[in-house]
Amino acid sequence: MTLATWSLFILASVAHAKNPQAVQVLPASFAVLGQNGTFRATGFDMFNPTNNTPPFFQVFDSDFYDIISSHSKLFSVSSDPTFAFAHEAPVWVPESDEVWFCSNGGGGLGRSGIDANNQVAKISLKAVAAAVKANGTGSVNVTHAKVELADSMQMTNGGTGPYKGQIIFMNQGRGALPANMALVDPKTNNVTTLLDNFYGRQFNALNDVRVHPSGQIFFTDVPYGYYQNFKPEPTIPAQVYRFDPKTKAVRVVADGFNKPNGLTFTPDYKSVYVADTGALGAKWANNGTLPATIYKFDVTPGTLEFVNRRVFAYVDTGAADGVVVDTKGNVYGGCGDGVHVWNSHGVLLGKFYVGGNSANMAFASDGRLVILAETAIYMASGLKVEGMNMEVITK
Ligand SMILES: *[C@@H]1O[C@H](CO)[C@@H](O)[C@H](O)[C@H]1NC(C)=O
Ligand SMILES: *[C@@H]1O[C@H](CO)[C@@H](O)[C@H](O)[C@H]1NC(C)=O
Ligand SMILES: *[C@@H]1O[C@H](CO)[C@@H](O)[C@H](O)[C@H]1NC(C)=O
Ligand SMILES: *[C@@H]1O[C@H](CO)[C@@H](O)[C@H](O)[C@H]1NC(C)=O
Ligand SMILES: *[C@@H]1O[C@H](CO)[C@@H](O)[C@H](O)[C@H]1NC(C)=O
Repeated sequence: MTLATWSLFILASVAHAKNPQAVQVLPASFAVLGQNGTFRATGFDMFNPTNNTPPFFQVFDSDFYDIISSHSKLFSVSSDPTFAFAHEAPVWVPESDEVWFCSNGGGGLGRSGIDANNQVAKISLKAVAAAVKANGTGSVNVTHAKVELADSMQMTNGGTGPYKGQIIFMNQGRGALPANMALVDPKTNNVTTLLDNFYGRQFNALNDVRVHPSGQIFFTDVPYGYYQNFKPEPTIPAQVYRFDPKTKAVRVVADGFNKPNGLTFTPDYKSVYVADTGALGAKWANNGTLPATIYKFDVTPGTLEFVNRRVFAYVDTGAADGVVVDTKGNVYGGCGDGVHVWNSHGVLLGKFYVGGNSANMAFASDGRLVILAETAIYMASGLKVEGMNMEVITK
């Protein structure tokens, strides 16, 4: 780097005065690394050119200050370095102010596989608030309680809700035990299976789910159970389905993916985002030439088919797994180093940078975003945005 580039780099990367955890890394500061530059070998290496210690807010565009405020904080609220207890299926239950989630099924530190189910647990955000108040500053370590559920739920991976007061969980299945979609009543823990086959055929490993205001339930199916050695070889394409909870009819609305994963509608429900984690190969290793891409589709009025697929965002680190939107239409993806935030035009505004895989996240009102980062749960507080908790409106 020349002296001029260095000064630009340093100017652009100083901590933002308005928030002590904000670190600006404007694209102009790294657009040219030069002949002697340090390049990343893969998209599975972290991108932290300022070498700040996580967690912090990494700011790529000044519009990120419309999302974080001067008093926003990003901190760990529960951790266990020996157990990937906080993987996916984050669902905030307003009545109890708890977030439900599941552990990593079949992955590193997941304590699960062909011989052992993963776990569903919950954390009280009231307990988090009390611990934060007691601590004053910094991170806290609030316990998360395992929830005992019927063993029809095997290798839970995705969730949404509350939908008519219940949580919808997507379960991948294990060995010969089928994948299924189930309702869990958060008051009684009662489990009701909604669907476990496509006209008699097993799904590969049901992954994630969203409800449309029409009442139709949309979900993805991808063979991660096979890639993670706890399900047989795939027998059906990796694709997106629609389920009618009244007639129980199921149909395909989109295909052509490598590994379809998280999905979420835009606030007006006219479009939908579907993440493809093709690059995350599990037993076949990661492959940077495969998609780490969020696709956008139009939702056809009436039939609700997903059409006009185009690239919304390609992720620079890891791949977006879970995706959510806020009421302004900004898109949040759980990626390899934290949660990435794009505006509705696909411009990367910033990251909730935690320095490790953060597969999924959920808004929890009051400017709170809960981030599942495998061996830790983080919270971003004091945000200027609120989530589109779409299922909450489907009473
Ligand atoms: C790159 O490094 C080499 C060896 O240290 C040096 O001779 C050269 O001037 C450097 N090039 C630039 C553009 O800084
Ligand atoms: C947090 O507490 C749990 C026990 O509830 C413990 O297993 C874990 O190691 C603690 N985390 C840290 C970072 O000490
Ligand atoms: C408060 O937070 C600090 C910084 O993370 C931590 O070192 C300390 O153990 C916490 N204290 C309590 C009581 O949790
Ligand atoms: C529990 O769910 C089952 C279906 O799995 C249903 O038949 C039963 O009525 C439910 N029980 C309660 C107490 O909600
Ligand atoms: C990565 O994926 C591409 C496309 O499927 C394939 O051709 C290539 O062999 C893969 N590379 C590795 C290292 O597996």
